[in-house]
Amino acid sequence: MNPRFDGKVALITGAASGIGEAIALQLAREGAKVVVADQDAAGAAEVVRAIEQKGGVASLFEVNVADAVEVEVMVMFAARTYGALHLAVNNAGISGPSAPTADYPLEGWQKVMDVNLNSVFYCTKFEIAAMLRAGGGSIVNMASILGSVGFANSAAYVTAKHGMLGLTKAAAIEYASKGVRINSVGPGFIDTPLLSKNLDAATLGAIAGMHPIGRLGTSEEVAALTCFLLSDEASFITGSYHLVDGGYVAR
Ligand SMILES: NC(=O)c1ccc[n+]([C@@H]2O[C@H](COP(=O)([O-])OP(=O)(O)OC[C@H]3O[C@@H](n4cnc5c(N)ncnc54)[C@H](O)[C@@H]3O)[C@@H](O)[C@H]2O)c1
Repeated sequence: MNPRFDGKVALITGAASGIGEAIALQLAREGAKVVVADQDAAGAAEVVRAIEQKGGVASLFEVNVADAVEVEVMVMFAARTYGALHLAVNNAGISGPSAPTADYPLEGWQKVMDVNLNSVFYCTKFEIAAMLRAGGGSIVNMASILGSVGFANSAAYVTAKHGMLGLTKAAAIEYASKGVRINSVGPGFIDTPLLSKNLDAATLGAIAGMHPIGRLGTSEEVAALTCFLLSDEASFITGSYHLVDGGYVAR
């Protein structure tokens, strides 16, 4: 049997670390040619090396996803390097400042909107055009449980992730009959540098306890759902939001 993504070309943003890295590794393992896109060129180069060492095919693209021109060039790079673009995961993101809304810094708000929401519009816009040229495709936008519930001291992040779900639905309706599926994924708290760089061990333990399963998730658990949504097994799924959250939102 051919690997699930044999002959497919995939673009993953924020692929130098955490969830994006796990998705890039799984897609490559399952036969896709992968563009590992990130502003962290050194980290992205390590992911490309890891893929190549296992016999996979990957290229690095250094990008700031908050810059629309860089995003357009990134999508062109993927299509020119491998001949087409079929799969994309818009995953790059930051946590932003932690403060109650009345004290939330204006610059921090703008930065989170640029990196976590405006970037996803830029990516989705150019990826759809490339996928239409390729005869169809599948996009996953990396939201969060905080795309559907609130969290104190995180107004910008929560707002950006809620906004991402709206963009996903609107674009999915427009392109459903043209062969491009667009979905979003809502991870609970996942054990990645995004958390470990920003939170101490006691806070991480408390957060783990907020998930009925009783622990943080892993990047591989998010990658498994994302790759399912990207695959032809999900051929009737578009415009929807899929949790991988250890039961967090069910409480
Ligand atoms: N870790 C979690 O608990 C969690 C939960 C829900 C959703 N998410 C989302 O998953 C995604 C990945 O998060 P992660 O936990 O793997 O984080 P991470 O910090 O491990 O990885 C994020 C990657 O994005 C890159 N990046 C950040 N800003 C960028 C920019 N402007 N341009 C290009 N690349 C940029 C970083 O260099 C990094 O490699 C994010 O969108 C995050 O909001 C994470």
